Amino acid sequence: MTVTYPKKLYGTISAQQMLDMVIKDRGIHLLTLNRYRYSEQRSCKDLTDVIERLEGQPRELVRDLSNHVREEAQHAFWLTDLLYDLGADLGTPGGPSYIDEYEKLIGDDGSTPDVIGTLAAINVTEKRGCHFFSAHIKALKNAEQTEENIKIRACIERIFPEEANHVRWGNRWLAILAKQSPENAHKVEEAKRKFDAIENAAFEAGMDITLGAELRRFNRLIEISETLPVWERPQYLAEQIPRLLPDVTKARFGAARIVFERNPADFVQQFIPMVMGLNKQQAKKVEVKEPVTV
Ligand SMILES: [Fe+2]
Ligand SMILES: [Fe+2]
Repeated sequence: MTVTYPKKLYGTISAQQMLDMVIKDRGIHLLTLNRYRYSEQRSCKDLTDVIERLEGQPRELVRDLSNHVREEAQHAFWLTDLLYDLGADLGTPGGPSYIDEYEKLIGDDGSTPDVIGTLAAINVTEKRGCHFFSAHIKALKNAEQTEENIKIRACIERIFPEEANHVRWGNRWLAILAKQSPENAHKVEEAKRKFDAIENAAFEAGMDITLGAELRRFNRLIEISETLPVWERPQYLAEQIPRLLPDVTKARFGAARIVFERNPADFVQQFIPMVMGLNKQQAKKVEVKEPVTV
């Protein structure tokens, strides 16, 4: 089974279109790089947690994961070093967090991880990373070749081959495990389906704050629950549904604060219509004639 990613978010914007826009605004570009840095840094912590819980078995996987932590730490350092040189923020980025949402949706109970599930969970996030890095490189190739853009591209191009290798590594492990028995083959397919649904939901949750996001996230939760055994579904939904409304509200306010602090006029003319799902005609009605003062 191949993992498919939404080519476009809700049929509106692709990763390439998004990155083409991101690199045009220095503030958003640096924020995006800081999000990459945060994800790389955080993955070291999560992979270390998996290693500790595996308790030394299987040995080959523990050794590979150890190398994986080393490479992710290197990526975090390259990005931190780049952001440092550019004078950018190195703190935890604000707004909705993809990695936090992904973990919440997995609903980890802290028990010893199932090897197949662990590999499938890592694999989908690595694929997402590659997808974004490749779009980012392409966007920068087509952009004005400023000293800063060249520097940023060199950093991402340095990381990208190792991320592609992480995807191949995960695919290889999953294929080996699937060949061991029909039961394993079934487990691999189920794990891919489950983590594919979770990853898509986490990705969308990090991007979607527009009107109706609650309902779309609810539908995603139903899709994820359908990948679980029937008897686990009510419990999963009972844990996930109560946080849906507060999380979407928090994400909206977080994004609203960032946009408002950057440019109050954009907040009124662009952000509010976007969140409310207004078309251009309707949006004109909320446009302000006078400059907004803070
Ligand atoms: Fe990485
Ligand atoms: Fe990676």
